[in-house]
Amino acid sequence: MSEILSNLEGGVLTLTLNRLDKKNALTASMYARLADVFVEATGDDAVRVVVIQGNEHVFTAGNDLQDFRDNPPDTTAAEPAPVHRFLEAVRVFPKPLVAAVAGPAVGIGTTLLLHCDLVYAGDNAAFSLPFVNLGLCPEAGSSVLLPALTGYQRAAEKLLLGEAFYADEALEMGLVNRIVPPGEVRAYAQAQALKLALKPQASLKATKALMKRSQDGLKGVMDAEFEQFGRMLRGPACKEAIDAFMNKRKPDFSAC
Ligand code: COA
Repeated sequence: MSEILSNLEGGVLTLTLNRLDKKNALTASMYARLADVFVEATGDDAVRVVVIQGNEHVFTAGNDLQDFRDNPPDTTAAEPAPVHRFLEAVRVFPKPLVAAVAGPAVGIGTTLLLHCDLVYAGDNAAFSLPFVNLGLCPEAGSSVLLPALTGYQRAAEKLLLGEAFYADEALEMGLVNRIVPPGEVRAYAQAQALKLALKPQASLKATKALMKRSQDGLKGVMDAEFEQFGRMLRGPACKEAIDAFMNKRKPDFSAC
């Protein structure tokens, strides 16, 4: 079974992360597939809205940590890494993008939401940005998008401490639009997406493009983040954090 399921119905392309035994942790091949799907969806008139979701227990555990260790994205290569291609495809995606989030949404599982137009969350949703705890730094433009959304101090708390925060706080922060029971979040997001699919596409696209004008410098931010992230992935703190996760122990950063 594919690790990314896709289904097009009523103009709504639904992408379901489907690697449940690993809590939907995202590998390079999953990013590559997602990047291709977003690029294709951009040019496909049959796709009017995209929904991205996990299941009612988990959205995604973020980047696959084993993949990070064994196959870290090369930020100096001429060909952009799959994760970079995916984030760029999402950044420029011109049609409405809706997320249905339940359970953990770790790392890119939370930063991706900063690029979505509508986000619906189950009351079991747990968001986290544990980049510092992994010896890394923010990605996906979150170093700018999160402070812009929440104010500096709240963003600093989330990014520096990396502790999980939950649906109520995410709603209050403006990261999610509505909280619904976990078993209903996908249906609710789907119903909202279907409403969008019936609206005039040129108006939706123009509205989104105008709202995103304030993010004109975001590509530069994402490139700078990505370059630093790539270096830090090869650093001692990240190695220690991943080794600790794999061996189910606490990391020791005393030498980092
Ligand atoms: N990369 C690789 N494997 C992961 C993973 C990740 N990001 N997240 C979870 N898994 C794997 C676990 O190793 C475990 O595999 P195993 O059954 O072979 O031992 C399996 O998925 C289930 O994970 P587990 O930790 O037992 O589930 P949980 O419900 O107790 O906790 C999370 C879920 C998401 C809170 C927890 O797995 C976690 O913190 N994962 C790491 C998140 C992370 O740091 N991501 C990187 C962000 S940049």
